[in-house]
Amino acid sequence: QIAYVNGSFVPLAEAKISILDRGFLFGDGTYEVAAVLNGRIIDSSSHLARLQRSAEKISLALPETPDRLVALLKELIALNGLEEGFVYLQVTRGAAERDFAFPKDARPTLVMFVRSKKMIDSREALEGISVKTVPDIRWARRDIKNISLLAQVLSRQLAVDADCQEALMVENGFVTEGVSSSAFIVTADGVLVTRPRFNAILDGCTRKALIKLCEERKIPVEERLFSVAEALAAKEVFITSASVLVQGVVVIDGHPIGDGKVGGVVRRLREIHLEFAH
Ligand code: PDD
Repeated sequence: QIAYVNGSFVPLAEAKISILDRGFLFGDGTYEVAAVLNGRIIDSSSHLARLQRSAEKISLALPETPDRLVALLKELIALNGLEEGFVYLQVTRGAAERDFAFPKDARPTLVMFVRSKKMIDSREALEGISVKTVPDIRWARRDIKNISLLAQVLSRQLAVDADCQEALMVENGFVTEGVSSSAFIVTADGVLVTRPRFNAILDGCTRKALIKLCEERKIPVEERLFSVAEALAAKEVFITSASVLVQGVVVIDGHPIGDGKVGGVVRRLREIHLEFAH
């Protein structure tokens, strides 16, 4: 396993940063996760564009241009011989004296690593997952892909403790999104419903790619709020992310969705997405 740290490719075990790094001390940084299929990065321009937006929103200057970052990611994938899995990239404001305000002289820390993972023939994709609803206790700027993920860590653990694979976060009775995924429901009429972007959710790259693929195929998509009750009564429910692609949700809080199996709409959407991603 080869990782990248501030300009060098190094064995993962030797990849180190300072304990004064602001990512470590304050969660002062941003990150991206992108899927890799057949050795290729999926949605790389969306991920790089979002990285730039997140960095701008926290006044963090990226240490490399987006093109250079993509080149480095490709080099890392090649060095690791990665065929299927994901790449992780993180930029923090760097190591400095511990002071809440921005340091004057810190250089951003850039790290990358890859993980091999079965993306296509995963059991969860075929059988669907169970989810637990939890209150969305995150901060107000969920549009920023920030490395402070404690709320998501606690929420995912609540899900795992309830034998679920993901948590759906809920605010004022409406689903915001998954801990690390965008959430969709399919209505009885076959309309896909997902929460509008704004600041309450992350602008998911997989979500965006799927919506575009649906528009091209005249599959109706409505961006509006949906409640937990609506999700429980939906024909099908699914989540999307770079780490699971399109994944059916078959149980919410112990209640089966439809017949409790991954439905035809979700199977088709997963196929459409994989065809595009390959
Ligand atoms: N998470 N919403 C949240 C809160 C997320 O953390 C993610 C991704 C998504 C889906 O976005 P995308 O389709 O661009 O992956 C939605 C990544 C996979 C993670 O933190 O591991």
